[in-house]
Amino acid sequence: MVKVKFIDLFAGIGGIRLGLENTLAKHKIKSKCVFASEIDKFSRLTYLSNFKDKHQISGDITKINPNIIPDHDILLAGFPCQAFSQAGKKRGFKDARGTLFFDIAKILDVKKPKFFLLENVKRLITHDRKNAKDKYGNTFLRIKYILEDLGYNLYWKVLNSKDFGIPQNRQRIFIVGSLNKIDFKFPDPLKTPTLVSEILELNVDSKYTISDKLWSGHIERKKRNRLKGNGFGYGIFNKNSTHTNTISARYYKDGSEILIEQNNGKNPRRLTPREAANLQGFPKEFIIPVSDHQAYKQFGNSVTIPVIEKIFSNLFCTF
Ligand SMILES: C[S@@+](CC[C@H](N)C(=O)[O-])C[C@H]1O[C@@H](n2cnc3c(N)ncnc32)[C@H](O)[C@@H]1O
Repeated sequence: MVKVKFIDLFAGIGGIRLGLENTLAKHKIKSKCVFASEIDKFSRLTYLSNFKDKHQISGDITKINPNIIPDHDILLAGFPCQAFSQAGKKRGFKDARGTLFFDIAKILDVKKPKFFLLENVKRLITHDRKNAKDKYGNTFLRIKYILEDLGYNLYWKVLNSKDFGIPQNRQRIFIVGSLNKIDFKFPDPLKTPTLVSEILELNVDSKYTISDKLWSGHIERKKRNRLKGNGFGYGIFNKNSTHTNTISARYYKDGSEILIEQNNGKNPRRLTPREAANLQGFPKEFIIPVSDHQAYKQFGNSVTIPVIEKIFSNLFCTF
């Protein structure tokens, strides 16, 4: 019986792992996570509450010698996106966080897994471009160069969660690497209709309703932004909306990117943590052992499970 061994870097709460394991199970392939690393203790708590193999999850990857990592077939890494995000300072590798990519590269160099899946914000593609007309920026080209130099064939595409049955407009770049040339194609959009009602809970505590002060602050800010000619402001949705905005790791701050309309003259409300989990396609039984604040951060940082499942389904079809 084949057993696929994999490692889970920048593991967060294990969204990429969950998508991989679900797909392997569907194909009746056994799997084993042989190493995981996540620096944040609250994410590690959620991870260990849900993945019962109870193997240790290490902390800071920069402190790990790649030689101690067991051999594996697949490397997973949704490396931190702060340095590359639209809203960030756009400094890329000059930012210390950007250099975490080199920790991935070091492991690939020493362990040479057959495949990897990397995930990042869409903006990674054009980050640090010299000319607005350039298709790729310096950051992506450097990453591409390093990965190809390590012997990998690369396949990349931006996928949107709303195209895979989940009511969230979330565009992320996925980079698949394979030591052998393979006939890999990213999944096509499913085009199944989505509705926000699919992720909403029925009975929601009134603590999720935003205060009058916060609501009027959102309205004022939107007015000011509109006058300045930029469209940024809160995003409001109801059960009939086809999809929400992207849930980000900053959702805990004021939740303005996704507010849910309420009846009877009530102010809008935030998503509950379970709704945030639903919006990323996590299963109902996924345990959320942390505070709301941490949960929003964790789900905002994670991935949309059905997107990962589809990518791996296509990858396993190439075998
Ligand atoms: C974009 S999130 C990845 C989330 C993950 N894909 C998931 O499904 O939850 C990046 C993660 O990298 C972690 N991280 C940042 N620096 C790290 C480091 N030096 N070592 C290990 N993990 C780190 C962050 O705490 C964060 O959880």
